[in-house]
Amino acid sequence: MRIRTRFNIALTVFFLLGFAVSVLVTYRVLLANAKDEVLRNAGMMMEAALAVRSYTIDEIKPHLDPMLDKVFLPQTVPAYSAVETFGRLQKKYPDFSYREATLNPTNPRDRSAEWETAIIKGFREGSSSEAIGERRTASGPSLYIARPIKITNPACLVCHSTPAAAPASLIAKYGDANGFGWQHNEIVGAQIIAIPTGLAEQNALNAFWSFTAVLGGLFVVLFITINIMLSRLVVEPIRRIAELSDEISRGNLDLPEFEESGADEIRHLHTAFNRMRRSIEKAIKVVQLQKDLLKKP
Ligand code: HEC
Repeated sequence: MRIRTRFNIALTVFFLLGFAVSVLVTYRVLLANAKDEVLRNAGMMMEAALAVRSYTIDEIKPHLDPMLDKVFLPQTVPAYSAVETFGRLQKKYPDFSYREATLNPTNPRDRSAEWETAIIKGFREGSSSEAIGERRTASGPSLYIARPIKITNPACLVCHSTPAAAPASLIAKYGDANGFGWQHNEIVGAQIIAIPTGLAEQNALNAFWSFTAVLGGLFVVLFITINIMLSRLVVEPIRRIAELSDEISRGNLDLPEFEESGADEIRHLHTAFNRMRRSIEKAIKVVQLQKDLLKKP
């Protein structure tokens, strides 16, 4: 097998292996990074929701509470202000969502959907304080992060235990059918942030394809360069030496000498070859002379 063929096979096998490993590793790392980024965003949104809730309790509720006798203002309810704030955010980012999904909510819009109910039941049965998962939605893949809503403050039960205990203005606005019967220390629902992962994944894939193209391009350039160098520095000089040796072995001594050039090893070979050739020529001449002398009478 020719030197170049052997070399190219080794190079191709080596490259294909290296390519496969680096492409696989890069793919995983990029996708994991994309997911991390989405999760970080979701975590930020969750903290923002909690901040809105506590702002409502600390800054809004005390001012509006005195009006509770006359009219119920949902603006005093932390769950309401968090959901409303994110509803406004959603106008700009329609695929993002924040929910205070609840099994038995005061406001029907907070009623948990089937998949949310499964998460809440998971919280009620287990002891985890956070759930993270992925699901397919109509608008593409989405990642959610959920935290349980647990009734730890007895003050919550004023409005969520029995209609009799709740302010009359609340009953007037929401009726007495929903959002009651909650128990102390019960997990009644979950805060659920959902963020689409499609864009982050698409960005990761774009980066991945760019990387693959650059790596593939590098290999092609390397392959061509190595082949040209191999041809000029090794294959061609060896072929010429082989041809000349062939000619000399057939008795053809009129050929020019090698230029003593090329890579160190080849130059050395040329010098040695030229020297050997001159020695052979001299030896042939001596033999010829002796023959001629012997022929003379
Ligand atoms: C003054 C009455 C009142 C108190 C006290 C109160 N809530 Fe509510 N809560 C409401 C009302 C009214 C709503 C529905 C608001 C809306 O229109 O979105 C609500 C909504 C919620 C929701 C969203 C699900 C649903 O029922 O619509 C959660 C979760 C919630 N409350 C939890 C709590 C917790 C936890 C506490 C105690 C820290 C608490 N609430 C205290 C009146 C109250």
